[in-house]
Amino acid sequence: MSRLVVVSNRVTLPGSQSAGGMAVALNAALQRNNGLWMGWSEKVKAEEEPSTLTEKEVGGITYALIDLSQKDLEDYYYGFANQILWPIFHNRADLAKYSEARESAYYRVNEMFADQLEQVLRQDDVIWVHDYHLIPLAEKLQQRGHKNRIGFFLHTPWPPADILSTLPNYNRLLRGLSCYDLVGFHTENDRNNFAECLRRQEWGELNGEDCRAYGNEFRCGVFPISIDTAEVARLAERDDDLPDSYCRFAGYDIAIGVDRLDYSKGIDNRIDAFNRFLRSNKHRRRKTLLLQITPKSRDKIPAYQAVEKAVAELVGRVDGELGSVGWVPVHYINQSLGQPELARLYRRARVGLVTPLRDGMNLVAKEYVAAQNPRDPGVLVLSRFAGAAGELGEAILVNPYDPEGMASAIETALDMTRDERIKRWSAMMERLREHDVYRWCDDFLSKLNAAPQGLTASL
Ligand code: UDP
Ligand code: G6P
Repeated sequence: MSRLVVVSNRVTLPGSQSAGGMAVALNAALQRNNGLWMGWSEKVKAEEEPSTLTEKEVGGITYALIDLSQKDLEDYYYGFANQILWPIFHNRADLAKYSEARESAYYRVNEMFADQLEQVLRQDDVIWVHDYHLIPLAEKLQQRGHKNRIGFFLHTPWPPADILSTLPNYNRLLRGLSCYDLVGFHTENDRNNFAECLRRQEWGELNGEDCRAYGNEFRCGVFPISIDTAEVARLAERDDDLPDSYCRFAGYDIAIGVDRLDYSKGIDNRIDAFNRFLRSNKHRRRKTLLLQITPKSRDKIPAYQAVEKAVAELVGRVDGELGSVGWVPVHYINQSLGQPELARLYRRARVGLVTPLRDGMNLVAKEYVAAQNPRDPGVLVLSRFAGAAGELGEAILVNPYDPEGMASAIETALDMTRDERIKRWSAMMERLREHDVYRWCDDFLSKLNAAPQGLTASL
């Protein structure tokens, strides 16, 4: 069996409290065949120091970690990846701050990843690259003569062609993707957007899963990522030992939101909707609260600082205007919680508010469902613009740009009968049990192993 090599910007070592389903599934796949996971070490090296790989072995897996310089971080990670690709991929071209320096840093850091990977790569390794930070990696390896089987999975949405084309030189990304044997997206919508981008290129076309572009033939598929359903359910059942500080929530109807502090998550729209809900449902005041868990993210970026400010101000205003001695309507927490604590909080919450403006999948939506008590489940209120909406149609689907609509969805969720809640939950849970993250991982890898390899189309 070939060795699996995973490459991503961020690496999660096993045992980390915050390791979500994907990290657990990838680690399990890597463990099965003494695999290697390469990525950024989260350390910053001096500019003049050469980049090197630090290898460490944990539980039969080799982690090969690369340090980045301050400049790499600024121009590649905060710059091209998170101030250009992230906003464009989330339909926010207005927030993209393109510069040639950022673009060239992106390709330079991808070269560096290729150089380092080359040091440890074996001829028959199967490589699986993750996310928008590393799109050019296959091309860089190909240019160095490597012929390994190589797949790519995008964890964000793929934008419509007109939005992608706001990015100068966007065709370099398409050419980069054409160098993989298999390119995976979360949803049909993402794949259709990608197909349209290819069609607009000379020689670009897609016929079912078979694509042809830039002289390369490759496959393209839909693989909705999922969670470790059984594990989330198991963690959630351990309802006994929440910290004492949570006792103050006893007796309240809780709506929960769990998101990185990111403008794509629609946190301010949600708080606005919750505010409207409380204003039009006076009888729910002092009995209902929104628990919003929001770890800070990419906070050197002005658009993230702006959303942080906007959300903090909004929370202050709602709590100030509606709150009373003994009741705080919005509990806003900027810390990151571990999976065990989150699972138990999801189960306590009668409503899961997952209302991003745009999201690749959104695992929180799936975790919320998996954590519910089968005999008395809560209700998921889910944005139509999250990839998860494709599989969780029994949630109350909302338009996050419609605050009144979201406010009435919260009302409907809290008023829903137990029979109706059980019916909706059971349908979603059955799907999540079948399509968990292990299945996602196996589906991608078996498609990758079956893909015709390294074909150059005869033009
Ligand atoms: N998460 C966590 N602790 C927190 C907040 C979030 O472990 O305090 C996890 C959450 O359980 C989920 C992941 O972070 O597994 C977020 O994934 P999602 O797809 O919802 O959004 P992303 O952050 O990838 O955009
Ligand atoms: C999203 C991206 C991941 C990224 C994660 C956390 O899920 O798809 O690639 O790792 O957010 O963001 P960060 O910038 O902290 O790695």
